[in-house]
Amino acid sequence: MAVVTIKSAREIELMRKSGRLLAKVHEELAKVIRPGISTKEIDTVCEELIRGCGGTPNFLNYQGYPASVCVSVNEEVVHGIPREDRILKEGDIVSLDTGLIYQGYHSDAARTYGVGKISPKAEKLIEVTRESFFQGIEKAKAGRHLHDISNAIADYVIPHGYGIVHDLVGHGIGKSMHEAPMIPNFPQRRRGVRLKAGMTLAIEPMINIGTGEVEWLDDGWTVIAADHSLSAHYENTVLVTDGEPEILTLL
Ligand code: MF3
Ligand code: CO
Repeated sequence: MAVVTIKSAREIELMRKSGRLLAKVHEELAKVIRPGISTKEIDTVCEELIRGCGGTPNFLNYQGYPASVCVSVNEEVVHGIPREDRILKEGDIVSLDTGLIYQGYHSDAARTYGVGKISPKAEKLIEVTRESFFQGIEKAKAGRHLHDISNAIADYVIPHGYGIVHDLVGHGIGKSMHEAPMIPNFPQRRRGVRLKAGMTLAIEPMINIGTGEVEWLDDGWTVIAADHSLSAHYENTVLVTDGEPEILTLL
């Protein structure tokens, strides 16, 4: 298994800066979500926001991905490609996953929003998914083990009867968007690596109302819930310290 990088004080400062810029991008993006907007328009705004703050979109052209943000609607789990003819409507839920590079350092974060008024079932899925992230980072402390995070997320989600997506996981992040380790959101029997101060992790539960099984659409990117149930995603880039973890992509 590849080693997990430990960031130096200088690198941590740059990761903080990168994360703060991305948090602001998300804050602005949240304001454009409304019935009638196309997912392509969201991408255009996102790319402008990232470049406008001195960042570079890290999703754009990543393994050929054609946009700066993944916009995943309803049963789409992740990696929805923005399109002019995909128009958000009242009652949809939409996940925005985006990231940027600032002076060589990557940040990555995702949020799920309701479009206009959404059902209580959808509200609850979004809230449980978000809360599961906070349950997870509670364990992101030096001296604990990686899979304490995974198990905390799973222990919180499973009693709700939701399906945890297994085929996609969180990841280390730094000079690349994806570094070791992989961070599963489902129960683990092994402890995983020991966490150390200076590790930077993108923790990202992806949760479906139905089962956690997923399928890939023919566009080669979009991942959907196999049973077409609603899916939510919540992600932040986090710094492990000797004390409380720092969430780099929240203001
Ligand atoms: N945000 C995804 C992750 O968390 C990566 C998306 S890659 C892209 O790992 F190409 F789809 F943008
Ligand atoms: Co990620």
